[in-house]
Amino acid sequence: MRFLHGAAFLAARGFLHHLLDELPNHNRLDGELVSCWKEGPPPGEKAGISKPPQAYWTRTVWLRPFLLEFDSISKAAKGLRAIQRNWAAYPTILRRRTALIAQALPPLPLKAKPFPFTLPESPMGGFTLLGENLLLGSALCSSPFPNGEFSFEEDRLGPPSRAYRKLWEALLLAKTLPAPGNFCLDAGASPGGWTWALAKLGARVLAVDRAALNPSVLNMPGVEYLRHDAFTLQPAECGAVDWLCSDVICYPRALYEWILLWLESDLAKNYICTIKMQGPRFDRETTELFARIPGSKVLHLWHNKHELTWINLKIWRDAALSTSGARDPSPSDARV
Ligand SMILES: C[S@@+](CC[C@H](N)C(=O)[O-])C[C@H]1O[C@@H](n2cnc3c(N)ncnc32)[C@H](O)[C@@H]1O
Repeated sequence: MRFLHGAAFLAARGFLHHLLDELPNHNRLDGELVSCWKEGPPPGEKAGISKPPQAYWTRTVWLRPFLLEFDSISKAAKGLRAIQRNWAAYPTILRRRTALIAQALPPLPLKAKPFPFTLPESPMGGFTLLGENLLLGSALCSSPFPNGEFSFEEDRLGPPSRAYRKLWEALLLAKTLPAPGNFCLDAGASPGGWTWALAKLGARVLAVDRAALNPSVLNMPGVEYLRHDAFTLQPAECGAVDWLCSDVICYPRALYEWILLWLESDLAKNYICTIKMQGPRFDRETTELFARIPGSKVLHLWHNKHELTWINLKIWRDAALSTSGARDPSPSDARV
């Protein structure tokens, strides 16, 4: 096995073009797997875990890539199995051979999961074939799910939209949930998927939208609805909120300006906001502004579309500010 210096990035579904723009110096493209690594001198202890370049449009990142030569399917599977249990195949060429190697490995947990669940702790690896007898793999990937993909057991009756799945995913990655009685502001709430998910957790929700909330959500205990432009709502008018959630369709800069008001007011503890790209363009500039807010993570969730999710928790913010010793925005670790 030869460890490589760098990383390989598996593009977010449908957004390979954005990822390629983010990684202009890639050295390989295999399907939607964008490689940014090079072979180097024999590795020291930390070889292969150098900080990867910043890229948002990924579903998972192969953080410790290696090349493995093998002379049979069973030897390939044995080589991977000797490292760890979980390996997700990412077939590009030689699909049948890739599938046969995958079949010789332990099965992966692919069943739809009920919300909430604890994120798997065992490492999830990835591999793809570069040739009949050569594979590219990584035991360490940024997502705990096979190729960054997973699904929830869905409630097909309760929520009026399926947007709640991205809030669920963000909450899983935040590793904390709104507690019963917590006060949540849900901006851009209509028709009510996020409000439904928050109210189901026992939180009190102020749902704000210019459009109507679905009556079944409006009638849930703890839900209040305000027909209003979210961005003209001043923090002082709302008071302290435990969770500020926004799924408003708007230019990223409009959301950012509003969030700055909230940060300055110090009235919101935790934030989960969708940064929705307008048109085909990736607004990298505003995305970077979000990422630089201390304690932030900006990522493309498996349930996101042409949008990224910004998560900022009070405990992350406090930790980031105490290490930087200042309130200046500082670059954050953008992946969970
Ligand atoms: C993607 S939808 C939200 C879906 C919702 N999160 C759910 O789970 O059902 C975006 C919403 O943003 C609302 N919106 C757009 N601009 C707004 C603004 N300035 N203030 C409040 N709501 C706004 C739209 O009316 C729309 O209902």
